[in-house]
Amino acid sequence: MTRILITSALPYINGIKHLGTLAGSMLPADVFARFKRAQGHETLFICATDEHGTPTELAAAEAGMDAASFCLRQHEVQSDLAARFGLSWDHFGRSSSSQNREMTQTMARQLWENGFIEERVTQQVYSNADRRFLPDRYVIGTCPHCGYAAARGDQCENCTRVLDPADLLTPRSAVSGSEDIEIRPSKHLFLRQSLFAERLRTWIEGKKATWPLLVTSIALKWLDEGLQDRGITRDLEWGVPVNAEAWGPNPDGLRPDIEGLKGKVFYVWFDAPIEYIGATREWADATGGDWERWWRGEAASDVTYVQFMGKDNVPFHTVGFPCTLIGVNERLGPDGAWTPASNAPWKLVDRLKGFNWLDYYGGRFSTSQQRGVFMDQALELLPADYWRWWITANAPEGSDASFVWEQFQAQVNADLADVFGNFVNRILRFTESRFEGKVPEGGEDGPLEARLRVDIAEKLGELTTQLEAIEMRKSAQALRQLWVLGNQYLTEAAPWTAVKTDPDRAAVAVRMGLNLVALFARVSRPFIPFTCRVVAEAVGEGSSSAWPDASGALDLLPVGREVKAPAVLFRKIEADQVEAWRARFGGPEAG
Ligand code: MF3
Ligand code: ZN
Repeated sequence: MTRILITSALPYINGIKHLGTLAGSMLPADVFARFKRAQGHETLFICATDEHGTPTELAAAEAGMDAASFCLRQHEVQSDLAARFGLSWDHFGRSSSSQNREMTQTMARQLWENGFIEERVTQQVYSNADRRFLPDRYVIGTCPHCGYAAARGDQCENCTRVLDPADLLTPRSAVSGSEDIEIRPSKHLFLRQSLFAERLRTWIEGKKATWPLLVTSIALKWLDEGLQDRGITRDLEWGVPVNAEAWGPNPDGLRPDIEGLKGKVFYVWFDAPIEYIGATREWADATGGDWERWWRGEAASDVTYVQFMGKDNVPFHTVGFPCTLIGVNERLGPDGAWTPASNAPWKLVDRLKGFNWLDYYGGRFSTSQQRGVFMDQALELLPADYWRWWITANAPEGSDASFVWEQFQAQVNADLADVFGNFVNRILRFTESRFEGKVPEGGEDGPLEARLRVDIAEKLGELTTQLEAIEMRKSAQALRQLWVLGNQYLTEAAPWTAVKTDPDRAAVAVRMGLNLVALFARVSRPFIPFTCRVVAEAVGEGSSSAWPDASGALDLLPVGREVKAPAVLFRKIEADQVEAWRARFGGPEAG
Protein backbone atom coordinates (compact mmCIF):
# COMPACT_ATOMS: atom_id res chain seq x y z
CA MET A 1 0.00 0.00 0.00
CA THR A 2 1.35 3.42 -0.88
CA ARG A 3 2.28 5.83 1.85
CA ILE A 4 0.72 9.27 1.69
CA LEU A 5 2.55 12.51 2.44
CA ILE A 6 0.21 15.49 2.68
CA THR A 7 1.14 19.13 3.09
CA SER A 8 -1.16 22.10 3.47
CA ALA A 9 0.12 25.52 2.41
CA LEU A 10 1.71 27.12 5.43
CA PRO A 11 -0.44 29.86 6.99
CA TYR A 12 1.33 33.19 7.56
CA ILE A 13 2.11 33.78 11.20
CA ASN A 14 0.65 37.28 11.33
CA GLY A 15 -2.93 37.08 12.44
CA ILE A 16 -5.63 34.49 12.91
CA LYS A 17 -6.75 32.83 9.69
CA HIS A 18 -10.19 33.32 8.15
CA LEU A 19 -12.52 30.73 6.64
CA GLY A 20 -10.96 31.34 3.22
CA THR A 21 -7.64 29.88 4.38
CA LEU A 22 -9.44 26.90 5.85
CA ALA A 23 -11.33 26.37 2.60
CA GLY A 24 -8.35 26.74 0.29
CA SER A 25 -5.88 24.43 1.97
CA MET A 26 -6.10 23.38 5.60
CA LEU A 27 -9.54 21.78 5.73
CA PRO A 28 -9.52 19.79 2.46
CA ALA A 29 -6.04 18.56 3.35
CA ASP A 30 -7.42 17.37 6.67
CA VAL A 31 -10.43 15.63 5.12
CA PHE A 32 -8.11 13.84 2.71
CA ALA A 33 -5.65 12.88 5.46
CA ARG A 34 -8.43 11.44 7.61
CA PHE A 35 -9.77 9.50 4.63
CA LYS A 36 -6.36 8.06 3.80
CA ARG A 37 -5.71 7.04 7.40
CA ALA A 38 -9.12 5.37 7.56
CA GLN A 39 -8.23 3.40 4.45
CA GLY A 40 -5.19 2.12 6.30
CA HIS A 41 -2.52 4.05 4.43
CA GLU A 42 0.45 5.12 6.43
CA THR A 43 -0.09 8.87 6.26
CA LEU A 44 1.98 11.86 7.28
CA PHE A 45 0.16 15.20 7.34
CA ILE A 46 2.39 18.22 7.77
CA CYS A 47 1.74 21.91 8.23
CA ALA A 48 3.55 24.83 9.89
CA THR A 49 3.41 28.56 10.36
CA ASP A 50 5.15 30.66 7.69
CA GLU A 51 6.98 33.09 9.94
CA HIS A 52 9.53 35.19 8.11
CA GLY A 53 9.33 38.38 6.08
CA THR A 54 8.63 42.07 6.46
CA PRO A 55 4.92 41.73 7.36
CA THR A 56 5.94 39.68 10.39
CA GLU A 57 8.54 42.24 11.46
CA LEU A 58 6.01 45.03 11.19
CA ALA A 59 3.23 43.10 12.93
CA ALA A 60 5.64 42.28 15.77
CA ALA A 61 6.67 45.93 16.06
CA GLU A 62 3.04 46.96 16.18
CA ALA A 63 2.41 44.46 18.97
CA GLY A 64 5.44 45.91 20.78
CA MET A 65 7.30 42.62 20.60
CA ASP A 66 10.42 41.26 18.97
CA ALA A 67 9.76 39.02 16.01
CA ALA A 68 10.76 35.78 17.74
CA SER A 69 8.46 36.27 20.74
CA PHE A 70 5.65 37.45 18.49
CA CYS A 71 5.94 34.33 16.35
CA LEU A 72 6.11 32.03 19.34
CA ARG A 73 2.89 33.46 20.70
CA GLN A 74 1.05 33.52 17.37
CA HIS A 75 2.10 29.96 16.67
CA GLU A 76 0.43 28.87 19.89
CA VAL A 77 -2.72 30.76 18.99
CA GLN A 78 -2.91 29.16 15.55
CA SER A 79 -2.01 25.75 16.85
CA ASP A 80 -4.81 25.90 19.42
CA LEU A 81 -7.39 27.04 16.86
CA ALA A 82 -6.34 24.32 14.45
CA ALA A 83 -6.82 21.67 17.12
CA ARG A 84 -10.26 23.07 17.90
CA PHE A 85 -11.15 22.84 14.22
CA GLY A 86 -10.05 19.21 14.24
CA LEU A 87 -7.12 19.72 11.88
CA SER A 88 -5.30 16.48 12.41
CA TRP A 89 -1.79 17.19 11.24
CA ASP A 90 0.93 14.93 12.54
CA HIS A 91 3.08 17.98 13.06
CA PHE A 92 2.42 21.70 13.03
CA GLY A 93 5.86 23.18 12.69
CA ARG A 94 7.45 26.60 12.42
CA SER A 95 9.44 27.88 9.47
CA SER A 96 11.74 29.61 11.96
CA SER A 97 12.78 26.27 13.48
CA SER A 98 16.44 25.28 13.67
CA GLN A 99 15.63 22.31 11.43
CA ASN A 100 14.35 24.58 8.71
CA ARG A 101 17.23 27.00 9.10
CA GLU A 102 19.63 24.13 8.58
CA MET A 103 17.69 22.72 5.60
CA THR A 104 17.40 26.12 3.95
CA GLN A 105 21.07 26.91 4.38
CA THR A 106 22.11 23.50 3.11
CA MET A 107 19.91 23.74 0.06
CA ALA A 108 21.16 27.23 -0.77
CA ARG A 109 24.74 26.01 -0.52
CA GLN A 110 24.00 23.08 -2.82
CA LEU A 111 22.25 25.34 -5.33
CA TRP A 112 25.32 27.57 -5.33
CA GLU A 113 27.72 24.67 -5.68
CA ASN A 114 25.62 23.27 -8.53
CA GLY A 115 25.75 26.60 -10.34
CA PHE A 116 22.12 27.70 -9.94
CA ILE A 117 22.73 30.77 -7.80
CA GLU A 118 24.16 34.00 -9.09
CA GLU A 119 25.18 37.15 -7.21
CA ARG A 120 23.82 40.44 -8.49
CA VAL A 121 23.93 43.99 -7.25
CA THR A 122 20.43 45.46 -7.04
CA GLN A 123 19.14 48.91 -6.16
CA GLN A 124 17.11 48.89 -2.96
CA VAL A 125 15.14 51.57 -1.17
CA TYR A 126 16.56 52.45 2.23
CA SER A 127 14.63 54.50 4.79
CA ASN A 128 16.87 56.56 7.02
CA ALA A 129 14.08 57.30 9.48
CA ASP A 130 13.14 53.62 9.83
CA ARG A 131 16.78 52.55 9.61
CA ARG A 132 15.86 49.69 7.31
CA PHE A 133 15.53 48.65 3.71
CA LEU A 134 11.96 48.77 2.46
CA PRO A 135 10.49 46.08 0.24
CA ASP A 136 8.85 47.56 -2.88
CA ARG A 137 5.35 47.44 -1.50
CA TYR A 138 6.34 49.39 1.60
CA VAL A 139 7.31 52.36 -0.50
CA ILE A 140 4.34 54.54 -1.41
CA GLY A 141 4.04 57.62 -3.58
CA THR A 142 2.19 59.17 -6.48
CA CYS A 143 1.62 57.00 -9.53
CA PRO A 144 3.38 58.52 -12.57
CA HIS A 145 0.68 57.08 -14.86
CA CYS A 146 -2.61 58.02 -13.21
CA GLY A 147 -1.65 60.39 -10.41
CA TYR A 148 -3.03 58.17 -7.64
CA ALA A 149 -1.42 59.47 -4.46
CA ALA A 150 -1.07 56.21 -2.51
CA ALA A 151 0.41 53.90 -5.14
CA ARG A 152 2.60 51.10 -3.84
CA GLY A 153 6.12 50.62 -5.12
CA ASP A 154 5.31 47.27 -6.68
CA GLN A 155 2.00 48.17 -8.28
CA CYS A 156 -0.55 50.98 -8.52
CA GLU A 157 -3.81 49.77 -7.02
CA ASN A 158 -5.72 52.38 -8.98
CA CYS A 159 -4.54 51.75 -12.54
CA THR A 160 -3.00 48.30 -11.84
CA ARG A 161 0.26 49.25 -13.62
CA VAL A 162 3.27 47.34 -12.38
CA LEU A 163 5.76 49.80 -10.90
CA ASP A 164 9.29 50.07 -9.64
CA PRO A 165 9.71 52.13 -6.45
CA ALA A 166 11.97 54.45 -8.45
CA ASP A 167 8.98 55.33 -10.69
CA LEU A 168 6.99 56.88 -7.85
CA LEU A 169 6.74 60.67 -7.50
CA THR A 170 7.39 61.91 -3.94
CA PRO A 171 8.14 58.43 -2.64
CA ARG A 172 7.93 57.83 1.10
CA SER A 173 8.09 55.02 3.62
CA ALA A 174 4.84 53.19 4.26
CA VAL A 175 6.16 52.32 7.70
CA SER A 176 6.80 55.82 9.04
CA GLY A 177 5.64 58.11 6.24
CA SER A 178 9.11 59.59 6.09
CA GLU A 179 10.32 60.97 2.76
CA ASP A 180 13.91 60.62 3.90
CA ILE A 181 14.59 57.60 1.74
CA GLU A 182 17.32 56.80 -0.71
CA ILE A 183 18.35 54.16 -3.19
CA ARG A 184 21.29 52.04 -2.10
CA PRO A 185 23.04 49.30 -4.01
CA SER A 186 22.84 45.93 -2.28
CA LYS A 187 24.16 42.53 -3.24
CA HIS A 188 21.64 39.70 -3.55
CA LEU A 189 21.43 36.08 -4.55
CA PHE A 190 19.34 35.09 -7.55
CA LEU A 191 18.05 31.62 -8.25
CA ARG A 192 18.54 31.01 -11.96
CA GLN A 193 15.05 29.70 -12.60
CA SER A 194 15.29 30.48 -16.30
CA LEU A 195 17.59 27.47 -16.69
CA PHE A 196 14.77 25.19 -15.52
CA ALA A 197 12.11 26.32 -17.99
CA GLU A 198 12.14 23.36 -20.35
CA ARG A 199 12.65 20.83 -17.63
CA LEU A 200 9.63 22.16 -15.73
CA ARG A 201 7.51 22.39 -18.86
CA THR A 202 8.01 18.69 -19.59
CA TRP A 203 7.19 17.83 -16.00
CA ILE A 204 4.00 19.89 -15.93
CA GLU A 205 2.83 18.75 -19.36
CA GLY A 206 3.01 15.25 -17.93
CA LYS A 207 0.59 16.25 -15.14
CA LYS A 208 -2.09 17.64 -17.40
CA ALA A 209 -4.17 14.47 -17.31
CA THR A 210 -4.25 14.25 -13.52
CA TRP A 211 -3.92 17.74 -12.03
CA PRO A 212 -6.81 20.23 -11.98
CA LEU A 213 -6.87 22.46 -15.06
CA LEU A 214 -6.68 25.46 -12.72
CA VAL A 215 -3.26 24.30 -11.58
CA THR A 216 -1.63 23.31 -14.86
CA SER A 217 -2.90 26.42 -16.61
CA ILE A 218 -1.44 28.73 -13.96
CA ALA A 219 1.87 26.88 -14.10
CA LEU A 220 2.07 26.87 -17.89
CA LYS A 221 1.13 30.53 -18.04
CA TRP A 222 4.15 31.31 -15.90
CA LEU A 223 6.37 29.28 -18.18
CA ASP A 224 4.85 30.83 -21.29
CA GLU A 225 5.60 34.29 -19.97
CA GLY A 226 9.25 33.30 -19.69
CA LEU A 227 10.67 32.10 -16.43
CA GLN A 228 12.56 34.88 -14.65
CA ASP A 229 15.52 34.41 -12.34
CA ARG A 230 14.36 35.29 -8.87
CA GLY A 231 15.96 37.15 -5.97
CA ILE A 232 16.06 34.81 -3.00
CA THR A 233 17.62 37.08 -0.39
CA ARG A 234 16.47 40.23 1.39
CA ASP A 235 17.93 43.00 3.52
CA LEU A 236 16.04 42.08 6.67
CA GLU A 237 16.84 40.90 10.14
CA TRP A 238 14.12 38.33 10.68
CA GLY A 239 14.77 35.28 8.53
CA VAL A 240 17.20 32.49 7.79
CA PRO A 241 20.73 34.00 7.62
CA VAL A 242 22.59 33.44 4.37
CA ASN A 243 25.85 32.13 5.90
CA ALA A 244 27.75 32.04 2.61
CA GLU A 245 30.98 31.44 4.54
CA ALA A 246 30.08 27.74 4.55
CA TRP A 247 29.91 27.53 0.78
CA GLY A 248 32.47 25.95 -1.52
CA PRO A 249 33.24 27.20 -5.01
CA ASN A 250 30.59 27.03 -7.74
CA PRO A 251 31.25 25.15 -11.04
CA ASP A 252 33.10 28.19 -12.39
CA GLY A 253 35.41 28.05 -9.42
CA LEU A 254 33.96 31.25 -7.93
CA ARG A 255 33.54 31.75 -4.21
CA PRO A 256 30.63 33.77 -2.84
CA ASP A 257 31.15 37.37 -1.77
CA ILE A 258 30.94 36.69 1.94
CA GLU A 259 31.35 40.33 2.94
CA GLY A 260 28.71 41.52 0.46
CA LEU A 261 26.16 39.00 1.75
CA LYS A 262 26.68 39.69 5.46
CA GLY A 263 23.52 40.39 7.42
CA LYS A 264 21.14 39.19 4.69
CA VAL A 265 18.44 36.61 5.06
CA PHE A 266 16.65 34.38 2.60
CA TYR A 267 13.42 35.57 1.05
CA VAL A 268 10.41 34.14 2.84
CA TRP A 269 9.20 32.34 -0.29
CA PHE A 270 12.54 30.55 -0.49
CA ASP A 271 12.53 29.11 3.03
CA ALA A 272 8.77 28.56 3.46
CA PRO A 273 8.30 25.59 1.12
CA ILE A 274 11.53 24.07 2.41
CA GLU A 275 9.75 24.03 5.76
CA TYR A 276 7.57 21.21 4.45
CA ILE A 277 10.74 19.18 4.83
CA GLY A 278 11.95 21.15 7.85
CA ALA A 279 8.67 20.43 9.64
CA THR A 280 9.00 16.74 8.80
CA ARG A 281 12.39 16.86 10.53
CA GLU A 282 10.78 18.62 13.49
CA TRP A 283 8.24 15.80 13.58
CA ALA A 284 11.00 13.20 13.40
CA ASP A 285 12.97 14.89 16.18
CA ALA A 286 9.86 15.00 18.35
CA THR A 287 8.68 11.45 17.74
CA GLY A 288 11.72 9.44 16.71
CA GLY A 289 10.29 9.07 13.21
CA ASP A 290 12.37 8.76 10.05
CA TRP A 291 11.96 11.91 7.97
CA GLU A 292 14.11 10.94 5.00
CA ARG A 293 11.95 7.95 4.27
CA TRP A 294 9.17 10.42 3.37
CA TRP A 295 11.23 12.68 1.18
CA ARG A 296 14.30 11.22 -0.44
CA GLY A 297 15.50 8.65 -2.91
CA GLU A 298 14.67 4.98 -3.05
CA ALA A 299 13.32 4.90 0.51
CA ALA A 300 10.52 7.28 -0.51
CA SER A 301 9.58 5.56 -3.75
CA ASP A 302 6.31 4.22 -2.32
CA VAL A 303 5.22 7.69 -1.16
CA THR A 304 2.56 9.67 -2.96
CA TYR A 305 3.05 13.35 -2.13
CA VAL A 306 -0.11 15.49 -2.20
CA GLN A 307 -0.11 19.28 -1.77
CA PHE A 308 -3.10 21.54 -0.99
CA MET A 309 -3.15 25.30 -1.62
CA GLY A 310 -5.02 28.34 -2.88
CA LYS A 311 -4.46 29.38 -6.47
CA ASP A 312 -2.14 32.28 -5.61
CA ASN A 313 0.31 29.73 -4.23
CA VAL A 314 0.45 27.59 -7.36
CA PRO A 315 3.42 29.32 -9.06
CA PHE A 316 5.60 28.88 -5.99
CA HIS A 317 4.79 25.17 -5.84
CA THR A 318 4.97 24.35 -9.54
CA VAL A 319 8.00 26.51 -10.33
CA GLY A 320 9.85 27.94 -7.34
CA PHE A 321 10.01 24.97 -5.00
CA PRO A 322 10.59 22.38 -7.77
CA CYS A 323 13.57 24.47 -8.99
CA THR A 324 15.01 24.28 -5.50
CA LEU A 325 14.45 20.54 -5.15
CA ILE A 326 15.84 19.69 -8.58
CA GLY A 327 18.70 22.16 -8.42
CA VAL A 328 20.11 20.96 -5.10
CA ASN A 329 20.56 17.54 -6.57
CA GLU A 330 21.62 18.01 -10.17
CA ARG A 331 23.99 19.89 -12.42
CA LEU A 332 23.34 21.29 -15.84
CA GLY A 333 26.08 20.70 -18.39
CA PRO A 334 26.98 23.15 -21.18
CA ASP A 335 25.33 20.65 -23.57
CA GLY A 336 22.02 21.10 -21.74
CA ALA A 337 22.18 17.66 -20.12
CA TRP A 338 21.20 17.27 -16.46
CA THR A 339 23.34 14.98 -14.35
CA PRO A 340 22.51 13.95 -10.81
CA ALA A 341 24.91 14.98 -8.09
CA SER A 342 25.70 12.33 -5.49
CA ASN A 343 22.81 12.84 -3.09
CA ALA A 344 19.44 11.11 -3.35
CA PRO A 345 16.76 13.02 -5.27
CA TRP A 346 13.96 14.80 -3.42
CA LYS A 347 10.36 13.91 -3.92
CA LEU A 348 8.48 16.34 -6.13
CA VAL A 349 4.76 16.79 -5.64
CA ASP A 350 2.72 13.97 -7.21
CA ARG A 351 -0.73 15.50 -6.87
CA LEU A 352 -1.36 19.19 -6.49
CA LYS A 353 -4.83 20.31 -5.45
CA GLY A 354 -5.39 24.03 -5.96
CA PHE A 355 -8.46 26.01 -4.94
CA ASN A 356 -10.14 29.17 -6.10
CA TRP A 357 -11.23 31.86 -3.64
CA LEU A 358 -13.91 31.79 -1.05
CA ASP A 359 -15.57 35.20 -1.20
CA TYR A 360 -17.38 37.07 1.52
CA TYR A 361 -20.18 39.12 -0.01
CA GLY A 362 -18.47 39.80 -3.26
CA GLY A 363 -15.10 40.73 -1.73
CA ARG A 364 -12.38 38.36 -0.69
CA PHE A 365 -11.98 37.29 2.87
CA SER A 366 -9.13 39.54 3.90
CA THR A 367 -6.80 39.45 6.86
CA SER A 368 -5.43 42.93 6.31
CA GLN A 369 -8.91 44.42 5.99
CA GLN A 370 -10.40 42.13 8.66
CA ARG A 371 -13.23 41.22 6.31
CA GLY A 372 -15.15 38.00 6.83
CA VAL A 373 -15.25 35.43 9.61
CA PHE A 374 -12.06 34.38 11.37
CA MET A 375 -11.36 31.02 12.96
CA ASP A 376 -11.64 32.20 16.56
CA GLN A 377 -14.88 34.05 15.86
CA ALA A 378 -16.35 31.12 13.98
CA LEU A 379 -15.87 28.87 17.00
CA GLU A 380 -17.55 31.42 19.24
CA LEU A 381 -20.67 31.08 17.10
CA LEU A 382 -20.88 27.37 16.37
CA PRO A 383 -18.97 24.12 16.85
CA ALA A 384 -16.32 23.27 14.27
CA ASP A 385 -18.34 20.60 12.46
CA TYR A 386 -20.89 23.14 11.20
CA TRP A 387 -18.11 25.09 9.53
CA ARG A 388 -16.27 22.01 8.33
CA TRP A 389 -19.37 20.71 6.66
CA TRP A 390 -20.36 23.92 4.96
CA ILE A 391 -16.85 24.69 3.76
CA THR A 392 -16.30 21.21 2.35
CA ALA A 393 -19.69 21.06 0.69
CA ASN A 394 -19.05 24.47 -0.89
CA ALA A 395 -15.35 24.12 -1.65
CA PRO A 396 -14.19 26.69 -4.23
CA GLU A 397 -13.19 24.07 -6.76
CA GLY A 398 -14.65 24.77 -10.20
CA SER A 399 -14.88 28.50 -9.54
CA ASP A 400 -14.79 30.99 -6.69
CA ALA A 401 -17.40 30.26 -4.01
CA SER A 402 -19.29 32.68 -1.86
CA PHE A 403 -20.15 32.69 1.81
CA VAL A 404 -23.65 34.00 2.49
CA TRP A 405 -25.17 33.74 5.97
CA GLU A 406 -28.67 32.68 4.85
CA GLN A 407 -27.35 29.98 2.56
CA PHE A 408 -25.03 28.76 5.31
CA GLN A 409 -27.98 28.57 7.68
CA ALA A 410 -30.24 26.82 5.18
CA GLN A 411 -27.68 24.22 4.19
CA VAL A 412 -26.43 23.42 7.68
CA ASN A 413 -29.98 23.12 9.01
CA ALA A 414 -31.05 20.87 6.16
CA ASP A 415 -28.02 18.59 5.92
CA LEU A 416 -26.79 18.36 9.47
CA ALA A 417 -29.89 18.90 11.60
CA ASP A 418 -32.73 17.55 9.45
CA VAL A 419 -30.99 14.74 7.62
CA PHE A 420 -27.98 13.50 9.58
CA GLY A 421 -28.75 14.47 13.18
CA ASN A 422 -32.41 13.64 12.98
CA PHE A 423 -31.74 10.21 11.53
CA VAL A 424 -29.32 9.28 14.27
CA ASN A 425 -31.54 10.47 17.07
CA ARG A 426 -34.73 9.03 15.64
CA ILE A 427 -33.46 5.49 15.37
CA LEU A 428 -31.50 5.51 18.60
CA ARG A 429 -34.34 6.87 20.69
CA PHE A 430 -36.67 4.32 19.21
CA THR A 431 -34.20 1.54 19.99
CA GLU A 432 -34.05 2.72 23.58
CA SER A 433 -37.82 2.87 24.00
CA ARG A 434 -38.80 -0.31 22.18
CA PHE A 435 -35.75 -2.58 21.99
CA GLU A 436 -34.12 -2.12 25.40
CA GLY A 437 -31.34 -0.10 23.83
CA LYS A 438 -29.86 -3.12 22.07
CA VAL A 439 -29.26 -4.13 18.48
CA PRO A 440 -32.23 -6.48 18.03
CA GLU A 441 -32.15 -9.98 16.69
CA GLY A 442 -34.81 -11.75 14.59
CA GLY A 443 -36.30 -11.34 11.16
CA GLU A 444 -34.65 -11.42 7.78
CA ASP A 445 -33.88 -8.94 5.04
CA GLY A 446 -36.80 -8.27 2.72
CA PRO A 447 -36.93 -6.43 -0.63
CA LEU A 448 -36.56 -3.02 1.06
CA GLU A 449 -33.30 -4.09 2.65
CA ALA A 450 -32.07 -5.71 -0.54
CA ARG A 451 -32.60 -2.47 -2.41
CA LEU A 452 -31.02 -0.42 0.35
CA ARG A 453 -27.89 -2.58 0.25
CA VAL A 454 -27.52 -2.01 -3.47
CA ASP A 455 -28.11 1.73 -3.20
CA ILE A 456 -25.74 2.14 -0.27
CA ALA A 457 -23.03 0.14 -2.00
CA GLU A 458 -23.31 2.36 -5.04
CA LYS A 459 -23.20 5.65 -3.12
CA LEU A 460 -20.41 4.45 -0.89
CA GLY A 461 -18.45 3.59 -4.01
CA GLU A 462 -19.07 7.05 -5.34
CA LEU A 463 -18.03 8.71 -2.09
CA THR A 464 -14.82 6.69 -2.08
CA THR A 465 -14.10 7.55 -5.71
CA GLN A 466 -14.69 11.27 -5.17
CA LEU A 467 -12.53 11.40 -2.07
CA GLU A 468 -9.83 9.51 -3.94
CA ALA A 469 -10.09 12.18 -6.65
CA ILE A 470 -9.98 14.94 -3.96
CA GLU A 471 -13.25 16.35 -5.28
CA MET A 472 -14.54 17.94 -2.09
CA ARG A 473 -17.92 19.15 -3.26
CA LYS A 474 -18.75 15.91 -4.98
CA SER A 475 -17.59 13.93 -1.96
CA ALA A 476 -19.86 15.94 0.31
CA GLN A 477 -22.69 15.46 -2.12
CA ALA A 478 -22.23 11.69 -2.20
CA LEU A 479 -22.11 11.62 1.59
CA ARG A 480 -25.28 13.65 1.85
CA GLN A 481 -26.96 11.20 -0.52
CA LEU A 482 -25.95 8.33 1.74
CA TRP A 483 -27.63 10.08 4.66
CA VAL A 484 -30.73 10.68 2.56
CA LEU A 485 -30.90 7.00 1.62
CA GLY A 486 -30.90 6.14 5.31
CA ASN A 487 -33.74 8.52 6.01
CA GLN A 488 -35.79 7.25 3.09
CA TYR A 489 -35.30 3.70 4.20
CA LEU A 490 -36.40 4.40 7.74
CA THR A 491 -39.46 6.27 6.54
CA GLU A 492 -40.47 3.39 4.30
CA ALA A 493 -39.63 0.57 6.69
CA ALA A 494 -41.38 2.51 9.49
CA PRO A 495 -40.41 0.30 12.44
CA TRP A 496 -42.60 2.47 14.70
CA THR A 497 -45.62 1.11 12.86
CA ALA A 498 -44.35 -2.41 12.27
CA VAL A 499 -43.51 -2.92 15.93
CA LYS A 500 -47.21 -3.18 16.74
CA THR A 501 -48.04 -5.83 14.15
CA ASP A 502 -44.83 -7.51 13.03
CA PRO A 503 -42.04 -7.34 15.61
CA ASP A 504 -39.58 -9.25 13.39
CA ARG A 505 -40.03 -6.71 10.62
CA ALA A 506 -39.46 -3.92 13.13
CA ALA A 507 -36.33 -5.70 14.39
CA VAL A 508 -34.90 -5.90 10.89
CA ALA A 509 -35.54 -2.21 10.27
CA VAL A 510 -34.05 -1.16 13.60
CA ARG A 511 -31.00 -3.34 13.08
CA MET A 512 -30.55 -1.88 9.66
CA GLY A 513 -31.05 1.64 10.98
CA LEU A 514 -28.42 1.15 13.66
CA ASN A 515 -25.98 -0.25 11.14
CA LEU A 516 -26.58 2.80 9.01
CA VAL A 517 -25.68 4.92 12.01
CA ALA A 518 -22.45 2.98 12.44
CA LEU A 519 -21.68 3.32 8.75
CA PHE A 520 -22.39 7.05 8.77
CA ALA A 521 -20.16 7.53 11.79
CA ARG A 522 -17.27 6.04 9.86
CA VAL A 523 -17.70 7.61 6.46
CA SER A 524 -18.70 11.06 7.75
CA ARG A 525 -15.74 11.23 10.08
CA PRO A 526 -13.32 12.95 7.70
CA PHE A 527 -15.88 15.75 7.34
CA ILE A 528 -17.43 16.12 10.80
CA PRO A 529 -15.06 14.29 13.14
CA PHE A 530 -16.26 15.70 16.46
CA THR A 531 -19.85 14.64 15.90
CA CYS A 532 -18.85 11.29 14.47
CA ARG A 533 -16.91 10.44 17.58
CA VAL A 534 -20.07 10.97 19.62
CA VAL A 535 -22.15 8.97 17.15
CA ALA A 536 -19.66 6.11 17.01
CA GLU A 537 -19.64 5.92 20.80
CA ALA A 538 -23.42 5.90 20.83
CA VAL A 539 -23.37 2.59 18.92
CA GLY A 540 -20.36 1.18 20.76
CA GLU A 541 -18.00 1.79 17.83
CA GLY A 542 -15.77 4.35 19.49
CA SER A 543 -12.54 2.77 18.38
CA SER A 544 -13.58 1.58 14.90
CA SER A 545 -12.72 4.00 12.15
CA ALA A 546 -11.63 1.80 9.23
CA TRP A 547 -13.06 2.85 5.89
CA PRO A 548 -15.74 0.28 5.03
CA ASP A 549 -15.95 -1.51 1.73
CA ALA A 550 -19.31 -2.13 0.15
CA SER A 551 -19.62 -5.78 1.13
CA GLY A 552 -19.83 -5.46 4.91
CA ALA A 553 -20.99 -1.88 5.03
CA LEU A 554 -24.34 -2.65 6.66
CA ASP A 555 -23.23 -5.44 8.95
CA LEU A 556 -20.97 -3.55 11.30
CA LEU A 557 -22.82 -4.10 14.59
CA PRO A 558 -23.21 -7.40 16.41
CA VAL A 559 -26.68 -8.37 17.57
CA GLY A 560 -27.16 -7.55 21.23
CA ARG A 561 -24.73 -4.61 21.22
CA GLU A 562 -25.89 -1.90 23.62
CA VAL A 563 -26.54 1.49 22.13
CA LYS A 564 -27.50 4.84 23.59
CA ALA A 565 -29.11 7.90 22.05
CA PRO A 566 -26.77 10.93 22.19
CA ALA A 567 -27.93 14.44 23.00
CA VAL A 568 -29.10 16.48 20.02
CA LEU A 569 -26.21 16.50 17.56
CA PHE A 570 -26.91 19.68 15.62
CA ARG A 571 -29.09 22.51 16.81
CA LYS A 572 -30.73 24.44 14.04
CA ILE A 573 -29.47 27.91 13.33
CA GLU A 574 -32.28 30.36 14.00
CA ALA A 575 -33.21 33.42 11.97
CA ASP A 576 -32.39 35.82 14.82
CA GLN A 577 -28.91 34.33 15.12
CA VAL A 578 -28.28 34.91 11.44
CA GLU A 579 -29.49 38.45 11.79
CA ALA A 580 -27.17 39.12 14.69
CA TRP A 581 -24.20 37.57 12.93
CA ARG A 582 -24.82 39.46 9.75
CA ALA A 583 -24.95 42.67 11.73
CA ARG A 584 -21.74 41.79 13.53
CA PHE A 585 -19.69 40.65 10.56
CA GLY A 586 -21.26 42.67 7.80
CA GLY A 587 -23.82 41.43 5.29
CA PRO A 588 -24.56 42.49 1.73
CA GLU A 589 -23.69 46.08 2.52
CA ALA A 590 -20.23 45.10 3.82
CA GLY A 591 -17.06 45.15 1.77
N1 MF3 B 1 2.09 31.65 3.65
C1 MF3 B 1 1.71 31.48 2.27
C2 MF3 B 1 0.28 31.99 2.05
O1 MF3 B 1 -0.47 32.00 2.99
C3 MF3 B 1 1.79 30.05 1.83
C4 MF3 B 1 3.14 29.47 1.97
S1 MF3 B 1 3.15 27.89 1.37
C5 MF3 B 1 4.77 27.45 1.34
O2 MF3 B 1 -0.04 32.35 0.95
F1 MF3 B 1 5.02 26.93 0.22
F2 MF3 B 1 5.53 28.47 1.46
F3 MF3 B 1 5.02 26.68 2.27
ZN1 ZN C 1 -1.73 54.43 -11.32
